[in-house]
Amino acid sequence: MRGRSEPPGQEETDMTDQHVIEVRPEIAARAHADAARYGAMYEAAKRDPQAFWAEQARRISWMRPPTRIKNTDFTGDVTIRWYEDGTLNAAATCLDRHLAERGDQVAIIWEGDDPGTSRRVTYRELHAEVCRTANVLKSLGVKRGDRVTIYLPMVVEAAVAMLACARIGAIHSVVFGGFSPDSLAGRIQDCGSTVLITADEGRRGGKRVPLKTNADAAVAACPTIRHVLVARVTGGDVPMQAGRDVAWPEAMAAASPDCPAEEMGAEDPLFILYTSGSTGKPKGALHTTGGYMVWASFTHQYVFDYQPGEIYWCTADVGWVTGHTYIVYGPLANGATTIMFEGVPNYPDAGRFWQVVDKHAVNIFYTAPTAIRALMREGDAHVTKHSRKSLRILGSVGEPINPEAWLWYHHVVGEQRCPIVDTWWQTETGGILISPLPGATRLKPGSATLPLPGVMPLLVDADGKTLEGAAEGNLCIADSWPGQMRTVFGDHERFRQTYFSTYPGLYFTGDGARRDADGYYWITGRVDDVINVSGHRMGTAEVESALASHPKVAEAAVVGFPHDVKGQGIYAYVTLKEGIEPTEALRKELVAWVRREIGPIASPDAIQWAPALPKTRSGKIMRRILRKIAANETEGLGDTSTLADPAVVEQLVENRAGG
Ligand code: WTA
Repeated sequence: MRGRSEPPGQEETDMTDQHVIEVRPEIAARAHADAARYGAMYEAAKRDPQAFWAEQARRISWMRPPTRIKNTDFTGDVTIRWYEDGTLNAAATCLDRHLAERGDQVAIIWEGDDPGTSRRVTYRELHAEVCRTANVLKSLGVKRGDRVTIYLPMVVEAAVAMLACARIGAIHSVVFGGFSPDSLAGRIQDCGSTVLITADEGRRGGKRVPLKTNADAAVAACPTIRHVLVARVTGGDVPMQAGRDVAWPEAMAAASPDCPAEEMGAEDPLFILYTSGSTGKPKGALHTTGGYMVWASFTHQYVFDYQPGEIYWCTADVGWVTGHTYIVYGPLANGATTIMFEGVPNYPDAGRFWQVVDKHAVNIFYTAPTAIRALMREGDAHVTKHSRKSLRILGSVGEPINPEAWLWYHHVVGEQRCPIVDTWWQTETGGILISPLPGATRLKPGSATLPLPGVMPLLVDADGKTLEGAAEGNLCIADSWPGQMRTVFGDHERFRQTYFSTYPGLYFTGDGARRDADGYYWITGRVDDVINVSGHRMGTAEVESALASHPKVAEAAVVGFPHDVKGQGIYAYVTLKEGIEPTEALRKELVAWVRREIGPIASPDAIQWAPALPKTRSGKIMRRILRKIAANETEGLGDTSTLADPAVVEQLVENRAGG
C-alpha cells in the first residue's frame, strides 16, 4: 500500500509538514484558478469584500440584482445579511436559466443500488418534474414560507422535492432516511412542517428500508402534518391513509408543468437542516437563498475545478449538507452533470465506486475518509480491476483524513494523476471554507491546506487570545462569508450563544486545528462534545439521553474513541438501576434501543458497565477521563484529585470494554 513512485521517505503515520505534492502543470494550465489567481482572489476578497462579492453574485441569475452586498456583524445580536435587496429563485437559477443553452444536457445521472439500474434526467426534464411537483405542493396547500419535511432515499425525487419547494418559496427540511421515526418526528415538530414527502421504501446494499412505515409512526406524533406525499421507489405495498396520503406519481401526472418561480428575497430562507451540537436537541441550521447559492456555485466551480461537460460525482446522501450543496444546488447552479448514487460502497462488492466511475466516465469524485479507509482494507485489486481513466480530481469531506488513507487515495485510486481536495466545512458554513484548489495549491497529505477567498480563519487559545504563525488552537472565523447559516430556526439566541459567545466577535467552529509554518491548516477534530462517526455528526448528549430513557438505565455517559474505519466510534458508559444485572443480552438490547431511538448511525460500538461515573464534587462528569479510558490511554489520566470518588476511575480502567 506504500506509495509506489513517490515514497514519503518516512513512516506514513509520521507525516510531517514537509511532504509536499506539487501542483500538476496540466491541471493548472486549464484550471479556473492557478496559484497566482488564487492569491489575487484571496487578496481582493479581503481588501474589498463588497466589490468581490458583488462581482461573484453575477454567477447566478437574479430577478432583481442586488446593490447592497454585505451587511454582517458578529457582535451584539449577530446579524448576517448578504445581497439583501436582491431577489431570485434558487430553482430558477439551477434550472430555468440553463434551458436555452443546455436543456438537453443531462443534469442528473441516477445510479441505482442494483448495478443494472440507472436513469438520466436532462435539465429540461428535471425542470418539468420540478414544476409539476411544485404545483402538486401548491395543491396540497403549501405556501411561501411554509415548511416541508423531506424523508427520502437517494432517488431523483429527492432533488425534485427540494427544488419544487424552492420554486414556490417553501422551506425544505431534509431528514436523512436512516433516522428513526422518533428523530424524524422531533425534526418535524421543531419546524412545524405541514407536508411530509417520503417514499414507499428505500433500497440500500440490497436491503429495503421501510420509509413509509417509519413516516407513519412519526406523523402520528406530528399534528401539523396535513399531507404525506409518497414517491414510488420499490413499488412495495404500503398503507395509504385516505385524505392525508397522496401518491406522488399520480398527482404529478395530473399537475400542470407550468409553474412560475416565486420571487424570493435573497435573505428569505431556502432550507433548514438539523445538525447535532454539544448540548440539547439537534438544531435547525437555517440557510437563506442569495448568499447560499453564490457560495454553492463559487465553491463547486473552484474547489472541484468543474469544467463544462464534466461528470461530477459526490457520494454523500442528500440528507446531509454535503448532499444539499454538492449534489444538488452547487452542481446544478453551475450547469453540471451530477450523479446521485442510491447504493453503498461495498455492494455488490468493494469495487462498486470504481465500476460506477467507469460506467459513467466520472471526472470528479468526492467521498468521505471513512469510505476510503473501508475500501483500502479490501485491497487494491478491487480498484485496479477498473480503469478509472476518466478521473481528474478527487475530493474528501466529513472528517480529518489520515495521511495513510490520503496516500492510498492518491496513489492507488488516482494513480498520482489526480489532485486531492480535502475540503473542510460544516453544516453551518453552507459550503467549503478550507480546501486546496486543484490548479493552485501544493498538497500535503492530511491537511485541508488554505482558506478560500473570503474566508478568514483564526486560531485562538482557551482564553480567546489570537495565535500567530505556526500554532495549534481552536478554529474560529473572523468575518462572514455569503454561505454562512443565518440563525437557528426559531431560536436566534441559541445561534448567538452556540457560535458567537465563546470568543466574542468570532464564529467558533467547534473544531481544533494546527497551522504550520506555510500557513496550512490541519484540522484535528472537534473540541466539544460532538463526535464524528463515519463522517456523521453525533451529539454525545443525544446518545446519552436515548440510553437514559431505557427503563433499566440509571445514567449514561458517551464519548468518542479512535476507530480504524469510522474515524470515531461511540463508547458508552452505562450505570444500571439498583438491582439490575448487567448481562450480554442487556448490552445487545441497549444497542438495539439506541438504533431504534435515533437510527443505526448512533449505535454504540462499545458499552461498558459503570458502577459509577467519575464526577467532580459539584456533580460534573469528567469526560476527559472517560475519553482516555475509552481510547485505552490509561497511563496519563491526569489529575483525578478533584473527583468526588477517585476510586471510581480505577474500577473503570480495570473493566474497560473491548480490551
Ligand atoms: C468535520 C460536513 C477534518 C469537522 C461537511 C466539522 C472535517 C464537522 C472535514 C462538520 C475535513 C468536515 N477535515 N474535519 N475535511 N470536513 N469535518 O456539519 O469536525 O456534518 O466541524 O458537515 O465535520 O460536519 P457536518
